[in-house]
Amino acid sequence: MSVFNYIDGELHADAVAVKSIAASVGTPVYIYSATRIASNFRRYRDAFENANCTICYSIKANSNLAVLRLLNRLGAGFDAVSGGEIHRALSVGAPGGMIVFSGVGKTRPEMELALAAGVRHFNVESVQELLRLNEVSGGMGKIARVAVRVNPDVDARTHTKVSTGRAEDKFGVPIAAARSVYERATELPNVDCVGLAMHIGSQIMSLEPFLLALRKLAGLVRELRAAGLRVRSLDVGGGVGIRYSPDDPEPPDVGEYARMVRRELDDPQLELELEPGRSIVGNAGILASSVVLRKEGAGRDFLVLDAAMNDLVRPAMYGAHHDIVPVSEPCRDSAIAPIDVVGPVCESGDRFAAQRLLPKLEEGELVVIKTAGAYCAAMASEYNSRPLAPEVLVSGSRWAVVRRRPRMKESLALESVPEWT
Ligand code: LLP
Repeated sequence: MSVFNYIDGELHADAVAVKSIAASVGTPVYIYSATRIASNFRRYRDAFENANCTICYSIKANSNLAVLRLLNRLGAGFDAVSGGEIHRALSVGAPGGMIVFSGVGKTRPEMELALAAGVRHFNVESVQELLRLNEVSGGMGKIARVAVRVNPDVDARTHTKVSTGRAEDKFGVPIAAARSVYERATELPNVDCVGLAMHIGSQIMSLEPFLLALRKLAGLVRELRAAGLRVRSLDVGGGVGIRYSPDDPEPPDVGEYARMVRRELDDPQLELELEPGRSIVGNAGILASSVVLRKEGAGRDFLVLDAAMNDLVRPAMYGAHHDIVPVSEPCRDSAIAPIDVVGPVCESGDRFAAQRLLPKLEEGELVVIKTAGAYCAAMASEYNSRPLAPEVLVSGSRWAVVRRRPRMKESLALESVPEWT
């Protein structure tokens, strides 16, 4: 059941009217439901309960500290891909041992930070990185736990920009080279090789690619063990896809996914990790925005919002679909007509939807862009010198601003003008 529903003709987030948040905080504003984030997380936790599995929420999907804190309280670990994300996880009280550090280009300072924090393990993506990590950990008198991230060459059948496990993608060690990299890792003095990791992509809408990848991973585990190497832990990557529109197919069932992982890996000794992001926060968030004006073009009308591609870039970047609904529930018999929903940024790509069927909306009326909890605020920028949209967290009838709108002078204060200009 959605947590964003019309109550007495007004859209609510949990029990709070979107209109009242917009009136108090202004628009555009992101609104997240703690209730939904928690229930999404519990779905994974319960499904993987008996599988010796740590659910490491992928911070990149939504890195707001309040969201991280909530998940930390619920028992989540974290998947971090930068020093910044490690700082965020630590700052909400996550122990280093609950943080997995992934990414193709970890710098020396990031390695040092992660080693000092005592991260659970580094997901190492190349021999070059492995050797550098061995050097950095040696210099600090530490042992770095590593999992070798394998590229299984599986097509996740998702958007090409978020597919990460095909041979042509930059991620991981080619599966054919995995054994030699693993052997190398076990020989290094400042590294403890704990296992393997993989991630094949995001917004995956069927279990089949996961199955193919898991089988390849399980085969590799057998091969390594047959060669006398220890494999204690497997990080199986991100979560399942989500629905962005009622026309989307049902996403894979988390329970079924968990049963599949257990069946394919069938080893109670193995420590598992899962790194879901989108399916924890995606449908727990919306972006509320006001109509600036309705404009008639040649052959099509434009609904210009005060939100833009800098706030939510997914349609411009991936051609992604997000449902858009008015905050005041339209009457059953109100006329609907196709309109392009756009932002004010100076690019034609700044379009949330083309020829979307909506009732007639006028200046000041509110709309929400749905399913905006994942990869939306996290990918926002200040393009066109537009301040980052604030974020609000709702829980039942309570709500709080969890990131305020920056003042323009705060943004300007980061810059300086040399006198010789
Ligand atoms: N682990 C790793 C190593 C990843 O690269 C990702 C996502 C995840 C976990 C989380 O996957 P999820 O459960 O969210 O599918 N900005 C894009 C999505 C990029 C995802 C990249 N990696 C979008 O807006 O669709």
